[in-house]
Amino acid sequence: MSVTFKHVNFTYSPRSPFEYEALRDINLLMEGHHFSAIVGHTGSGKSTLVQLINALLLPSTGIVAVDDELIVSNKKYLKKLKKTIDKPKKHSEEDIILAKQLLAFSENKKTFAVKSLRKKVGMVFQFPEYQLFEETVEKDVAFGPRNFGVNKIDAIKLGHAALAKVGLDESYYDRSPFELSGGERRRVAIAGILAIEPDLLILDEPTAGLDPLGAKAMMELFNEIYEAGTSIILVTHDMDIVLRHASNVIVMDKGQIVKESNPIALFGEDTEQYSLESPVLFEVSKTLIKAGYDIEITKIQNENDLAKAISLGRKR
Ligand SMILES: Nc1ncnc2c1ncn2[C@@H]1O[C@H](COP(=O)(O)OP(=O)(O)OP(=O)(O)O)[C@@H](O)[C@H]1O
Ligand SMILES: [Mg+2]
Repeated sequence: MSVTFKHVNFTYSPRSPFEYEALRDINLLMEGHHFSAIVGHTGSGKSTLVQLINALLLPSTGIVAVDDELIVSNKKYLKKLKKTIDKPKKHSEEDIILAKQLLAFSENKKTFAVKSLRKKVGMVFQFPEYQLFEETVEKDVAFGPRNFGVNKIDAIKLGHAALAKVGLDESYYDRSPFELSGGERRRVAIAGILAIEPDLLILDEPTAGLDPLGAKAMMELFNEIYEAGTSIILVTHDMDIVLRHASNVIVMDKGQIVKESNPIALFGEDTEQYSLESPVLFEVSKTLIKAGYDIEITKIQNENDLAKAISLGRKR
């Protein structure tokens, strides 16, 4: 499946004293099987960007497309673009060129339907455990598939399978989500999204607030889901996670995309220009290089790579 952003702007609370332009001219294409990380300063627009992909937010201008489903500000948006072209005297040359580009892109595509979109794109918010609401864990995880028209028995089966994936066995089925630990609740919330079997899973800081072992186990789970064929978009502040797991990285700053790259290439350059920390593995490698080790930093993606590099990288 593909996700495309074409000249997308997003403004919170337009025409009010709280108006805030959170995204500016976002252009992006994600397709095929990918594990994409979105990184950047707090407030740079990461959560806003991912919420546009499953139409929790609608672009103010521009187009987001998930496969051939168009997400636009409202039903009249495409008509408005046509009018811009039909009445060229009333608009700037720039606006006319943009309208032509967007209309050309929208050809042979249809406006999105919420259900089919949310079935394809599963979204796990930051602190998803606060979204649980059913009396039992089993009911909670079966809610998604039920909502998408799966019969009760099959929905429960999907729920059970998703719970197994997140490491919760049948002893959890009849428990109330509210009597679980924070980490267990988060697992239930994630299982609820997995039960829908989305093609694309969006995770907004899924490991925030978890202890290091819990965070590691959670990332291993997402890696398994990725390897089983689901694409992932992960918003994170943890550069070691990016280095280990992501196939590509999108760096945001002040509502714009300032860099797209693969993680190794990104961390190989000076990351301070993007106000990003360097992954611990890279810092360790740099210290070793200074101490005279012959290590090729752009080949280090995990501890095994580093260990191998140290054993081969004789001191100069
Ligand atoms: N509901 C809202 N109304 C007005 N402004 C908002 C709203 N939500 C977010 N913003 C502003 O939009 C900008 C982008 O917010 P967003 O939540 O997308 O950032 P982020 O990159 O996810 O940050 P963080 O790393 O802290 O989660 C921020 O400056 C934020 O203050
Ligand atoms: Mg955020």
